[in-house]
Amino acid sequence: MSYINENFLELQESYLFSTVAKKVNEYSAKNPDKKIIKLGIGDVTKPIVPEVIKAMHKAVDEMGTKEGFRGYGPEQGYEFLRKAIVENDYKDLGIEIDEIFVSDGAKCDCGNIVDIFDENNKVAITDPVYPVYLDTNVMSGRSGKYKKELDMYKNIVYIPVTTENNFIPELPKEKVDMIYLCFPNNPTGTTLTKQQLKIWVDYAIKNKSIILFDSAYEAFITEDNVPHSIYEIEGAKKVAIEFRSFSKTAGFTGIRCAYTVVPKELKLYTRSGEEVSANKLWNRRQCTKFNGVPYITQKAAEAIYTEEGKKQIKENIKYYLENAKIIKQGLEKAGFTVYGGVNSPYIWLKVPDGLTSWQFFDKLLEEVNVVGTPGSGFGPHGEGYFRLTAFGTKENTEEAVKRIIDL
Ligand code: MLT
Repeated sequence: MSYINENFLELQESYLFSTVAKKVNEYSAKNPDKKIIKLGIGDVTKPIVPEVIKAMHKAVDEMGTKEGFRGYGPEQGYEFLRKAIVENDYKDLGIEIDEIFVSDGAKCDCGNIVDIFDENNKVAITDPVYPVYLDTNVMSGRSGKYKKELDMYKNIVYIPVTTENNFIPELPKEKVDMIYLCFPNNPTGTTLTKQQLKIWVDYAIKNKSIILFDSAYEAFITEDNVPHSIYEIEGAKKVAIEFRSFSKTAGFTGIRCAYTVVPKELKLYTRSGEEVSANKLWNRRQCTKFNGVPYITQKAAEAIYTEEGKKQIKENIKYYLENAKIIKQGLEKAGFTVYGGVNSPYIWLKVPDGLTSWQFFDKLLEEVNVVGTPGSGFGPHGEGYFRLTAFGTKENTEEAVKRIIDL
């Protein structure tokens, strides 16, 4: 007999975005004539910029030559890309770091990182939250049993981020070992200042905890005093792992490329209290389970850091931020309470009184054919809220806002 990993039985229904897609497909099959506008999953719509395409073509041609062909690459990523990352994403911020692991996505890395942590670690997540952090800890046995009446897991520490605390998470009352933070935040689109983030870094240093910092939306920061990297905070190298992604920054949701920083200074502990390097463990994990990102993809990512590449991706980000403004201002004018959308491609709104997030989802889908993501899908404190993304086309964004207002 082959037994299963019973932790999987604790997972709730399907992955949030699969549930949303299923509902939309069902509606669409029954109503083929309706023009549905999708502002649900945060998937980009603008094509890959020319500089990146040029680099990919060149890399493809190289692969067809005897001299340029490459087989397995370094599991940690090619030096040319790691160097470009270090210089552009860190040196420019005054941060000395070179412990970069290139990967096929921040979602994969956020999910896989749990491999190196003890099953008994206490995990804290902000609530609402990007579901990957929670689900991967359920799969690996850190969540305990699901409590249906609360829509919460017994062993997870939920840290609310709602209007009540202005979306600023408060330190947990009990001691936690692994803390997931995502800023600019998915799903709320809100940010922390350097001072606010420092409180978490100080907590982690004091308690020997680890911060898993998801910075996938860094490219959308427009305001000063919002940190672009957690390593801008003193001491963070000792306690933080940072995840970055090219998905939203450069439209790589289909190409797949990201990276994770695991500083050498960061120590984890055996149960008997001995220090172990997190960098060494992650390297060992990657070398065993991962064969690196394709050369062509890494050449594409490198092109983002050329002068022309930077300019071109900035234009796309500007376009999405303009969409965010259209949604934010349009809905505010119509009387909605709206958050995010300034340093983020996500707009988080309060659903009209008397409706749950899923009821509002159904109403939008069925009455005006607009798709968003129900807040409660991101956790119990997301109930009563709804997320729209700015990743659509400008025309669709304007049309969606108009339809919601008419509703
Ligand atoms: C989202 O919509 O939250 C994201 O697109 C999901 C992801 O990046 O995996």
